[in-house]
Amino acid sequence: PHALSDYAHLVQPDRVHSAIYTDPAIFEQEMTRIFHRAWLCVGHEAELPNPGDFRATTLGRQPVIMVRGEDGQVRVFMNRCRHRGMTVCETETGNARFFTCWYHGWVYRNTGPLQDVPGPAGYGADFHKEDFGLTLVPRQASYRGFVFASLAPTGSTLAEHLGPAAKYLDIYMDASPVGDIDVTAGVHRTRYRGNWKFVGMDGYHPHYTHRSVLDAWRRRSGGNMADTHHGDPFADESGNLTRDLGNGHVLLDFLPGRMGNLDRYLATLRKLPQGEDYIQAMHTAYGEQRGNELLAWAGDPHVGIYPNLQLIGVQIRLVRPISVDETEVLMFPGLLKGVPASVNSLRLRQHESFYGPSGAGSPDDAELFERNQEGLQASVEPWLYLARGLNRERVEPDGTRVGLVGDETTQRGQLRGWAKLMAEA
Ligand code: FES
Repeated sequence: PHALSDYAHLVQPDRVHSAIYTDPAIFEQEMTRIFHRAWLCVGHEAELPNPGDFRATTLGRQPVIMVRGEDGQVRVFMNRCRHRGMTVCETETGNARFFTCWYHGWVYRNTGPLQDVPGPAGYGADFHKEDFGLTLVPRQASYRGFVFASLAPTGSTLAEHLGPAAKYLDIYMDASPVGDIDVTAGVHRTRYRGNWKFVGMDGYHPHYTHRSVLDAWRRRSGGNMADTHHGDPFADESGNLTRDLGNGHVLLDFLPGRMGNLDRYLATLRKLPQGEDYIQAMHTAYGEQRGNELLAWAGDPHVGIYPNLQLIGVQIRLVRPISVDETEVLMFPGLLKGVPASVNSLRLRQHESFYGPSGAGSPDDAELFERNQEGLQASVEPWLYLARGLNRERVEPDGTRVGLVGDETTQRGQLRGWAKLMAEA
């Protein structure tokens, strides 16, 4: 077992100890100190458009239910019967007015109260149903419809946790001229035999791990990546950046390159049926300059909200650690409200063609994470390199750190966030 003081030692400014990916004792501490305590993203309210819509998931190991009650409010409940603790929701998604416990049949409303129990006379006069509603998670808060929960009753507020990263949740939502999204297209999942912390933001790997996809894009664009709508986004000379936003939140900032290719990107949109309407709606909603920025972002944000939410491309990605060497990733394509159907079709094709069910991106990454785990089995030479771009990283006035797009600023930022959460008393 490791003393808590050891964790800081395992993440150095320029290297990381491989035990954080392989040691089951450290994984147990992550469950307690991160996943059963910190703010975690549960999902987005737009997944649940109708009263009664729910999705069951876990916070760390604790099953929970995110449900829109018949009163329209989205709540996160412990998925735990108040009688003897059985889970009351056995289906991952659906619509329910009531959750009925499969053990002895207690029935709960989708707003939480205990509605009924079999054989009520047996409980006696001092049993009051109103004392036994479903338990809410200790803390719940939303930002732009993203629902966060914490299993700890106290701690930093969600606003404090998000800090400067909150504005990148705005840019995901504000790709819509009405600032709202539709997350009902479904979910696609990947499960891999590797540690959850491998799912990161890495602008250095695409030319190698995803080379076959990038080669196909090159061929399609006549041999020149610059012919695609945002050029070669991963090259150091692209002008694109990587940012450590604090608390483990990170960003691959493709905006500089995209603004340089804005005309090309707008031309892509204009080729769509009613594509010009989308551009005009964005200019009307946000002004021409901000509207253009948001259009440039809209195709492909890469935002990591620590520890378990990532917005990559059009998708909302949620990371679920299963064990020290097994992880599940859920991917929800986000469609936009208030846009022509052709724009959402393009977003769905984007999702499918790389991360989604017919893309090579997620299988490539899953294999890479599994082989990364395999490579770390014995504790010989356990320190891993983490210093690319450290010498040219700069610190902004708000404390965020900035490197070039292929620099390891993001990995360092995520691991600093990890060490901070692990070290908190
Ligand atoms: Fe749920 Fe008994 S544990 S009704």
